[in-house]
Amino acid sequence: MAPSARKPARAWRVLSSPIHGRGVFATRTIRKGETVIEYRGRRTTWEDASGQPESGDDPHHTFLFSLDDGRVIDAAVRGNSARWINHSCAPNCEAYEDERGRVFIAARRTIRAGEELAYDYRLSIDGRVGPRMRKAYACRCGARRCRGTMLA
Ligand SMILES: C[S@@+](CC[C@H](N)C(=O)[O-])C[C@H]1O[C@@H](n2cnc3c(N)ncnc32)[C@H](O)[C@@H]1O
Ligand SMILES: [Zn+2]
Repeated sequence: MAPSARKPARAWRVLSSPIHGRGVFATRTIRKGETVIEYRGRRTTWEDASGQPESGDDPHHTFLFSLDDGRVIDAAVRGNSARWINHSCAPNCEAYEDERGRVFIAARRTIRAGEELAYDYRLSIDGRVGPRMRKAYACRCGARRCRGTMLA
């Protein structure tokens, strides 16, 4: 096979994460600005996605990504490995939505092989954010300036 016909090696792989469960880790240097992966899944309404069965031991676990038009991408259905990317308060990646409503994860800075990829979820929830909700969305990113929550 000619080198040009080869699929480029993936820049990431899924491994167990010190932050939470599974995470996504760089397999090579990823340059600032490089798009790493698309956040794929079923596009649906908040109402529909919220009606799905919750994961038993962690009811606040989420695979939902909010879109600008008010809908969500539910990566629990037809999702790809982007659904394993964890949150960080000092993230090396950021998510962006293109003009067609597709969501991609890109590097905010140069990322070295072995680093875990993360972006700031900036989660928003309905209702009052009291101590119970803060605990439910507690952050374990380990950043020096961790704000303590995955909420915006
Ligand atoms: C899109 S999933 C990320 C993959 C997740 N690690 C897993 O194995 O399912 C999002 C969920 O991961 C957990 N999570 C992600 N980042 C976290 C963080 N910084 N601190 C605590 N939990 C986190 C939360 O339960 C969150 O709802
Ligand atoms: Zn944090």
